[in-house]
Amino acid sequence: MILLMTSRRFQEHGAIKIKRTASARYCNRKMMMCCPKGTTAILCLTILVGSCVVKSVEALHIQDSQQDVTGKALSELKGATSGAATSDTKKERKMLRATKKPTHKPTQSPTGKPTSYILPDLKYKYKALQPFIDATTMEFHHDKHHATYVANINKALEGKPKVDILDLQLDALAAGSAVRNNGGGHYNHAFFWDEMAPPDEAKKTKPSAELEAAINKYFGSFSAMKVAFEARAAPGALFGSGWVWICVTDNEELKLVGTANQDNPLMKGVLDEVMYPILGLDVWEHAYYLKYQNLRTVYVSNWWNVVNWDKVSENFAYAMENKAGVPVRG
Ligand SMILES: [Fe+2]
Repeated sequence: MILLMTSRRFQEHGAIKIKRTASARYCNRKMMMCCPKGTTAILCLTILVGSCVVKSVEALHIQDSQQDVTGKALSELKGATSGAATSDTKKERKMLRATKKPTHKPTQSPTGKPTSYILPDLKYKYKALQPFIDATTMEFHHDKHHATYVANINKALEGKPKVDILDLQLDALAAGSAVRNNGGGHYNHAFFWDEMAPPDEAKKTKPSAELEAAINKYFGSFSAMKVAFEARAAPGALFGSGWVWICVTDNEELKLVGTANQDNPLMKGVLDEVMYPILGLDVWEHAYYLKYQNLRTVYVSNWWNVVNWDKVSENFAYAMENKAGVPVRG
């Protein structure tokens, strides 16, 4: 009788205390299976300990295998870089990509219910970009326009597992106009807010040496890049609503492109090839009309005063390394 009581007591405590890891969950299940009421404590303990030892060894083996793969890649990379002065930076980047390829797997809430996209907060106040972008424009642009894209993409995908907004872009055209317009609108605006900073902060930022070299290579100079960008954003070059982008291509080139409406270069079929934006400008009228009315060109030339080149440089490094779009909040 004492042994039976001990067995049951052990079972109850075990069910509470053994948790957290997969191995522990296995042990817990095993205990419930092998220690039904009436099993002696000695028999129960014998079966349980044996099972858990086997399972733990399996878990350690899997963990070791994973570490071996990562360790091997890192040691290869270390070996490549220790070749030192003659090491090829492109080769290093490719090796890094092989080990660090970003994955944006579908995410779900802990309850398993579909989650919704959210409107990311601005990292600065509405008035922070004045005098170049006014507070009212920022408030309406963020709180109304962007918020509407978020609400509409949530409505369009209601009941479905949430996919990272970045991953929604590639096949947006095939997914239909609701996903294309609202999913694009959400990604584009989330990207836009974070590449800007208050003028006092923005003027302290600058392109990284790598980005500056790429700009010089593909545009001739930093000032020439600005001239080309402003020309691409002019109403004659980009009629109606849309965006202007500087992107990294799979061949590690920089390209200046424009897209209509809420399309972006990440969407397959919008441009000749999928590209990875590092800088983007919203030239919809809602982005500037309250302050600039019909003077889009003035808005564009003033916008440089709030560009955070540190963030653009981060975007450039990310796109070059991963050949993927920059993740955004929301
Ligand atoms: Fe906008």
